Amino acid sequence: MIGEKEGDGILHRCGGYARCTTCRIEYLEGEPEKMTKAELEVLERKDLLGQARLSCQAVADHDVKVRPLATVSSTGAEGPGRKPEPGITPEPEWVEKPA
Ligand code: FES
Repeated sequence: MIGEKEGDGILHRCGGYARCTTCRIEYLEGEPEKMTKAELEVLERKDLLGQARLSCQAVADHDVKVRPLATVSSTGAEGPGRKPEPGITPEPEWVEKPA
């Protein structure tokens, strides 16, 4: 999960299942052109498409620069949430990011 190891307190309430959107980030550099179908669907449902991406749905296969949009310190949450799964969940089905 991008941002999780940097100690920035990025939230992940649902444990990385593309449900809560608390792991939302903004890509400053290197935004991937593909996204998981689960990410696309939850961003559309929560009216966040084009405004955020999900850290729990990202593959760290190239250099990126991101800004977490919801952290423990910025929200006053008691903690980041359930421990994320080691891989992308659910099993990723890749789609093109809408323009
Ligand atoms: S959507 Fe819940 S941790 Fe990413």
